[in-house]
Amino acid sequence: MRHLDVTHADPSRARPAELALEPGDSARYDARFASRAAGIVSSAMRDLMALSERPEIISLAGGFPNTSSFQRETFDEVMEVLASGHLASSLQYGPTEGLGELRERIVEVMAHEGVGARVDDVLVTSGGQQAIDLSIRTFVNPGDVVLAEGPTYPGAVPVFTTYEADVVHVPLDDDGLSIDLLEETLDRLDTEGRTPKLLYTIPNFHNPGGVTMSLPRRRRLIEIAHRRELLIVEDNPYGQIRFEGDPLPTLWELDDGAGWVIYLSTFSKILAPGLRVGWVAAPAAVLRKMNLGKQAADLATSTTTQRFILEYLRRYDWRDYVERLNGIYHGRRDAMLRALEEEFPAEATWTRPRGGLFVWATLPAYLDTRDLLAAAISQSEVAFVPGAAAYLDGQGTSSMRLNFSGVPEATITEGIRRLGETVAQAMDLHRALGGGG
Ligand SMILES: Cc1ncc(COP(=O)(O)O)c(C=O)c1O
Repeated sequence: MRHLDVTHADPSRARPAELALEPGDSARYDARFASRAAGIVSSAMRDLMALSERPEIISLAGGFPNTSSFQRETFDEVMEVLASGHLASSLQYGPTEGLGELRERIVEVMAHEGVGARVDDVLVTSGGQQAIDLSIRTFVNPGDVVLAEGPTYPGAVPVFTTYEADVVHVPLDDDGLSIDLLEETLDRLDTEGRTPKLLYTIPNFHNPGGVTMSLPRRRRLIEIAHRRELLIVEDNPYGQIRFEGDPLPTLWELDDGAGWVIYLSTFSKILAPGLRVGWVAAPAAVLRKMNLGKQAADLATSTTTQRFILEYLRRYDWRDYVERLNGIYHGRRDAMLRALEEEFPAEATWTRPRGGLFVWATLPAYLDTRDLLAAAISQSEVAFVPGAAAYLDGQGTSSMRLNFSGVPEATITEGIRRLGETVAQAMDLHRALGGGG
């Protein structure tokens, strides 16, 4: 059975067709699947996304950081340190909470973003993805309400589904999560006698929205969290991936130790996603439960990659590398915005991210981007993530997520040109069939 991860589809790694699930393949297992697994259905869209992995396709679909800028000499040097000084310990099991020295370094990385946390607040995780999983598994029973931005991180969707959360989306606009609509939603849920377990939010350079929550909204959100006792999971993988503007205080910082914010981040975007090292900072009582959850999931994060990061951070200033990455992404973001301006129809809108990896574009409502993806792949050899992947309630059908970090500027320009053509053809067809708009 092939599993397709729409957030990380690798254009360079086409898989053989035999791995595709044939009709009837799952029949003998269907009655045995746990309800949480049965709820995760493969859709035609996912199968289509698999095609975007073919090498001839220009993929604007994945969320790939640019790992080719990591210096070979740096990698060699750090691996040599591991081999000569720490070989046995690098290959050994480690503590569930992560290597103590790495947790100290993580506290320093967080301090750079204004997050004041202590070593004891930190649990190292296998990527930011596991931090999301542990947050949801720790708090959510089947049927519990979880609030999430609409759209939300497509990679969080299967986590919500696995734990059978009842996700209620709260819309985003250019200033991030709409706090007015959040209050309305909370009031409505209150009258229905439903109390959300938590709010999952990505305040900086949202995936897939591309927008950042404004400072007044951050303050209001924390005021609401305190007044209504709303637990917030703040996912911040992109705070350092900034091309413009000044950093804003994190929700963790604004919470000021009141204990209503759980903070998640990762080395995936500031260093490399293949290391699979992220972290969570949380109040002690929460961290203890998450630690137990992590023991069940994988005992501990890879000691080898934790040590790699530790030795890297001892020798190099991670901020220099991030600056280099940001320079590359800035140029690619500009290339994408320029191409959208030139190639997309006047009826389309899109966000103008000041950091992160993604633009969120919205087409006229009569276009379904899942259909458009089929045409884009087969006719134009270009791929994106359809907006519906970022919702659990069927919204987002006329939107798309476009990634600008994974391919060079000229490829972005060509990809958007082809996509613009596909969109224009779909609009022409709609008009020819007598549709309005
Ligand atoms: C919002 C968000 N959270 C978490 C993750 C997962 O990060 P990691 O690669 O560290 O698991 C991503 C990756 O794209 C992301 O965009």
